[in-house]
This record gives sequence, C-alpha cells and structure tokens, in this order.
Amino acid sequence: MDKIIIKTEEQISGVRASAQLAGNTLKYISEYVKEGVSTLYLNDKIEEYIRDNGATPAPLNYNGFPKACCISLNNVICHGIPSDKEIIKEGDILNIDVTTILNGYYGDTSTMFTIGECTDQAFDLVENTEHALYLGIEQVRPGNYFGNIGFTIGRFAKSKRYSVVYEFCGHGVGLKFHEEPQVEHSAPRNSGEIMRPGMIFTIEPMINIGKAKAIIDKEDGWTARTVDNMLSAQFEHTILVTDSGYEILSDVGEYEIFK
Ligand code: MF3
Ligand code: CO
Ligand code: CO
Repeated sequence: MDKIIIKTEEQISGVRASAQLAGNTLKYISEYVKEGVSTLYLNDKIEEYIRDNGATPAPLNYNGFPKACCISLNNVICHGIPSDKEIIKEGDILNIDVTTILNGYYGDTSTMFTIGECTDQAFDLVENTEHALYLGIEQVRPGNYFGNIGFTIGRFAKSKRYSVVYEFCGHGVGLKFHEEPQVEHSAPRNSGEIMRPGMIFTIEPMINIGKAKAIIDKEDGWTARTVDNMLSAQFEHTILVTDSGYEILSDVGEYEIFK
C-alpha cells in the first residue's frame, strides 16, 4: 500500500492555487446555472474558464471519462456526464464537481445548486449535506483518526434518517487525482490512519434520502444513480492538515447556490 504523502511547502502552495481555481470555477459557473440550460453548456463554460486560467480539467479522458467535469442531477449520486440532452428544470437539485490541474497540481471541489421551487425535502437534503461536510472538516487536526471524519458524518446523517453512500469515498489529492488514503464518509470511531500536518485530501459526502446503494449506468459506465431513484446530494472540499487544525484549500467564500 502506498503511504499517505506529506506535502512540502512548495507542493502545498501549488495545490492551494489549483484548489482556489477549482473553487473559483464553481463561483464563476454559479451565474450560469439556471432553468433551461443544458449540462453540456455548463461543462463547456467550465472547460473554457479552466483553460483561460492556464489549467486543464482533470476529469477529461481520466479513465475514459468523456467531459471536463461531472454534473449529477437529482437521483444521480456522482459521475454524471454532461449532455446536451439534459436540460435543467425547475425543482432540480444538481452537483457540479470540478477538478483542476494547475502547474501539475490537483484541486478538487464540488457544490450543489437548487433550481427554483424545490420540495422542502430536497432543500433540507442539500442544506444537511453541506452541514455534514463541515462536521467532517471540523474533525481535521493532527493526531486525529481519519475514521472520525466518517464517524461524525455518519452519526449526523443517521440522526436525520438519511443514508451515506459507501461505494465512493474522499481521497488524498494534490500530486495525483486520487492518492491514499480513502476517506470514508461512514466509519467506526477512532479507526483508520492518523492525520499529520501536510496531508491533503478531499471530504465529499454523498447523502441519500432513501437507500445508500449506487447503481452504475450500464451504457455509459459512469453515471452512478440511487438504486431507488430517490434524491442524492454531495459537497466536496480539498482540505490541508495544518499544525493546529485544517485549511480548506478550495474555499473561495460565499456565492449563491439557490437559483
Ligand atoms: N471529482 C471526482 C472526485 O471527487 C472524481 C471524478 S472522476 C471522473 O473524486 F472521471 F469522473 F472525472
Ligand atoms: Co474528489
Ligand atoms: Co470531485
């Protein structure tokens, strides 16, 4: 098993710059997310913005993924492929997941958007999933167990009677797209590896209203949907373990996600 990389100051600066670009890409695209546009239109704006900023979109051609970002609507858990056939409509909730490669360094972040009047159940899922991410982030400090991220997220999700997707995890990130360790979003207390300053990884909980199970689309080999077609939500940040706690490398401040 590969060891968890402790990044140098130079590497940390590089990953921070890339994660900031990924975050700024989400902020940029937020102005264009609305009823009537296709997910391919959003993908193309995202790719253009990333390239205009001297970077490349990591998903494109990654293990054969065909587009520059993942856009996952409603019952899609993750890895949705942008398409001109897929038009955003009132009542939808969607995740946009952006990963950038800037000067060789990877930054990875995603956010939800809600379109117009959604059900209370949908709004609650989105708000609670963002809260779950931040509960996980608050567990990040030197000496703590990676398992306590998942323990805290899992306990909160359970208290809301949601399920936590277990087939996709957070991951080390920075020099590669997916590094050690896998960061589970539901885990036993005090399990797994110990966090050390200089580690960088994502936390990206996927939380479902119904069952946790994911089904991968047989045709495209990517799109992961809930087995019961109920709603799923996800938020993701790239996090650095600092000497005293954490830094959210992909945090670019507030912008509007309710459209
Ligand atoms: N960005 C996703 C993650 O958070 C991974 C997408 S893989 C792709 O790990 F190939 F679908 F792009
Ligand atoms: Co990720
Ligand atoms: Co991602």
